[in-house]
Amino acid sequence: EEVQLMKETAAKLREKVDVLLVCGIGGSYLGARAAIEAINGLYSDDKVEIIYVGNTFSSNYIHQVAKYIEDKDFAINVISKSGTTTETSISFRIFKEMCEKKYGKEGARERIVATTDREKGALKKLATDEGYVTFVVPDDIGGRYSVLTAVGLFPIAMAGIDIDEMLKGAKDAMVKYNDANIETNDAYRYGVARQLLNKAGYSAEMFVTYELQLNNVAEWWKQLYGESEGKENKGILPHSAVFSTDLHSLGQFIQEGSKVLYETIFEVKNPQNDMIIPSDPDDLDGLNYLAGKSVDYVNKRACEGTIDAHVNTGNVPNIIISLDKMDAYGFGYMVYFFEMSCAMSVYFLGVNPFNQPGVEVYKKNMFKLLGKPGY
Ligand code: PA5
Repeated sequence: EEVQLMKETAAKLREKVDVLLVCGIGGSYLGARAAIEAINGLYSDDKVEIIYVGNTFSSNYIHQVAKYIEDKDFAINVISKSGTTTETSISFRIFKEMCEKKYGKEGARERIVATTDREKGALKKLATDEGYVTFVVPDDIGGRYSVLTAVGLFPIAMAGIDIDEMLKGAKDAMVKYNDANIETNDAYRYGVARQLLNKAGYSAEMFVTYELQLNNVAEWWKQLYGESEGKENKGILPHSAVFSTDLHSLGQFIQEGSKVLYETIFEVKNPQNDMIIPSDPDDLDGLNYLAGKSVDYVNKRACEGTIDAHVNTGNVPNIIISLDKMDAYGFGYMVYFFEMSCAMSVYFLGVNPFNQPGVEVYKKNMFKLLGKPGY
């Protein structure tokens, strides 16, 4: 029923607006951003532009977004499980006021959707009082595991992506990885491999993709693993790079620097788009040997050559994880794979993958400095 309501609400709002502001931070936005950019690309021609706010205290950024949307028709999806996250609350207050000034109270009500706890928190109360359409963050799902709930699915639907297909991908992965055999379950094999590397002295994992539009998949993955594992003075530092771009900055360190890291190559076999390298009669750049080949062909050879260089010459262990295609189905499948593998891997380390006690420390200091009552 909730998925149906998400689809209906998204279809109606998509008719109305040019821009959706997704207002959330950490687990309340990274999964949606990962999906939307991975599937639609970085310069999407979808009719609704998605802009992320509520993830920073940067006055420059918030000001620029406010200017940018001034003359555009916009809606807001505010997402916060606790309903009290300061970054999200400040941005929401600013953009809600802007929305009400532009469309009036009633118009704003039609353009604001809240995703929050079933009953607790300031956002829940505000959403009920204002009469916003509200989606629920399930009690037993933490932020970094929540992309396949309304937290991720509603903004993903607003970006014109088929959320039924995404859930189908996740469901098929759930069936596939419901297998206790460590020899055949790839999610478990990945989880175990990373802990064996950790025991062998590798304290950092570099998640590598060869697609710029997967950068936020890496950001989502970093939160998933970092926040699940980094406690009790244990855990592997999650790091990421986009190759070949970052080979021109980090490549030297990986090849010949201190042996602290291993790489996890997340390879997508078939790109959504490809281009043929043209022939040039003068061949002044000497590239005619590639004329008629596709850019993705070159990307794949760069990947093969780099794996060989890092593994066989640089002695950097590599784990390779492949996905056929990054579409809605593939994204859902990938999410389930990494979430299951993460929980398994972290349990293997003897740590609880589902809490995050350490993230409160900076907030207490900040609230004290800001003079928040009670701190
Ligand atoms: O995974 C987590 O718990 C965090 O990243 C939270 O998602 C993030 O801090 C936002 O919290 P909330 O959804 O309560 O605003």
